[in-house]
Amino acid sequence: MRLTQYFLPVLKENPADAQIVSHRLMLRAGMIRQQAAGIYSWLPLGFRVLKRIERIVHEEQQRVGHIPLLMPTLQPADLWRESGRYEAYGEEMLRLNDRHKRELLYGPTNEEMITDIFRAHVNSYKDLPLTLYHVQWKFRDEVRPRFGVMRGREFLMKDGYNFDLTKEDALHAYNRHLVSYLRTYERMGLQAIPMRADSGPIGGEDTHEFLVLADTGESEVFYDSEITDLTFGDRTVDPADPAACQAVLDEFTSRYARTDETHDPAVFEKIPEARRRTARGIEVGQIFYFGTKYSEPMGATVVGPDGTRVPVHMGSHGIGVSRLLGAIIEASHDDKGIIWPEGVTPFDVGIVNLKQGDSATDSACEALYAALEARGLSVLYDDRDERAGAKFATMDLIGLPWRITAGPRGLATNTVELTSRRTGETVTLAPADAVERLAAIYAPIKAASYDAAVG
Ligand SMILES: Nc1ncnc2c1ncn2[C@@H]1O[C@H](COP(=O)(O)OP(=O)(O)OP(=O)(O)O)[C@@H](O)[C@H]1O
Ligand SMILES: [Mg+2]
Repeated sequence: MRLTQYFLPVLKENPADAQIVSHRLMLRAGMIRQQAAGIYSWLPLGFRVLKRIERIVHEEQQRVGHIPLLMPTLQPADLWRESGRYEAYGEEMLRLNDRHKRELLYGPTNEEMITDIFRAHVNSYKDLPLTLYHVQWKFRDEVRPRFGVMRGREFLMKDGYNFDLTKEDALHAYNRHLVSYLRTYERMGLQAIPMRADSGPIGGEDTHEFLVLADTGESEVFYDSEITDLTFGDRTVDPADPAACQAVLDEFTSRYARTDETHDPAVFEKIPEARRRTARGIEVGQIFYFGTKYSEPMGATVVGPDGTRVPVHMGSHGIGVSRLLGAIIEASHDDKGIIWPEGVTPFDVGIVNLKQGDSATDSACEALYAALEARGLSVLYDDRDERAGAKFATMDLIGLPWRITAGPRGLATNTVELTSRRTGETVTLAPADAVERLAAIYAPIKAASYDAAVG
């Protein structure tokens, strides 16, 4: 992409209404535009990141065998009357009538609808286990939408639902989701800590939230500092192996980590004082096991091995796809702007042409652009007729992890500069070597991806 042909409406001024850094930077970098309280348009740069995050979510769901589908945003009220949640959900639910005065709602979550799909089409335990998921817009009429996409009213969520014959199988599905979530967040350059949590309106017995530590987080969290030493890394865990998934859950819940809702001071006090941490966190996902809470009232049953009908055991599992952009920026920025992790950056590398219009520099930049794209890297080439300072400021603000700077002086000795946005470190090298270096940097990122169908 050439910047002169792109649509990147960066703001010079700090938007006054944005209270936290991620909201400020997303507005300044021309990623989003607020259309109503908690409702945003995703401008091209923001849309690219949103789609990269969504893709990682799809890949990691499909890697462990979960099946994508797509349910609508609008749902009939009657479905929610069956579970009893139409009344219970309260004012957070946006309710509307169509021209025939039929009652609809904009889905805040999809337990009822997926249960309806299941009961219509699945009859036998032989079709289990089954996990279906989608990535779809949700609406919750939050009392206080704020912090940009972190607490929107319309927001993008991945929500998945497992159907199993027994509680034991459903707990395996729970653990399998935990495994897939750990890998998902790490691919985005995030540490998200599973913490024992409260189940809220979804209901159920077992639940963990995944929290990214950040001062601006809305949740108060308590943890043993040893938990932050754990990383999932590139280990392979067989998603069909209950013991392997259980071992990951055991490992990642082996240290105290809870939100204020489940915090137990008596247990916390037993941790050596030097390891006790009280902090704030951003909830980027949650997993639930809730048994037959929906299957029983809604009649989602299967014929079991002994020929009798039993309600299926279920759980639901959510990732805040749009909130993740805010969470990543909260965790990764400096005073000049965003610092995207390589896994989610909107473009892999930026090219800054220091002397636009100088034919040798222009053609060197064009050659670099083509060579990088030929290696499968996405490039944003700043080909504007602007001074260097302005180009650097834009690159720093939008946060591409790598920048190549090309100017007549360096090119005279066949060199360009390659700069890391994170460390500021610059190396001078031949253009072809810069391409090789970047291809090597991104090789593990590309290798981590999984060939998945995406919506
Ligand atoms: N208003 C919102 N804006 C953006 N993302 C949200 C919002 N509400 C929930 N999410 C994201 O969707 C995920 C799954 O939804 P879930 O039902 O667990 O939300 P929640 O627990 O009600 O969230 P919160 O406690 O932050 O209101 C959450 O972990 C969060 O990342
Ligand atoms: Mg939650």
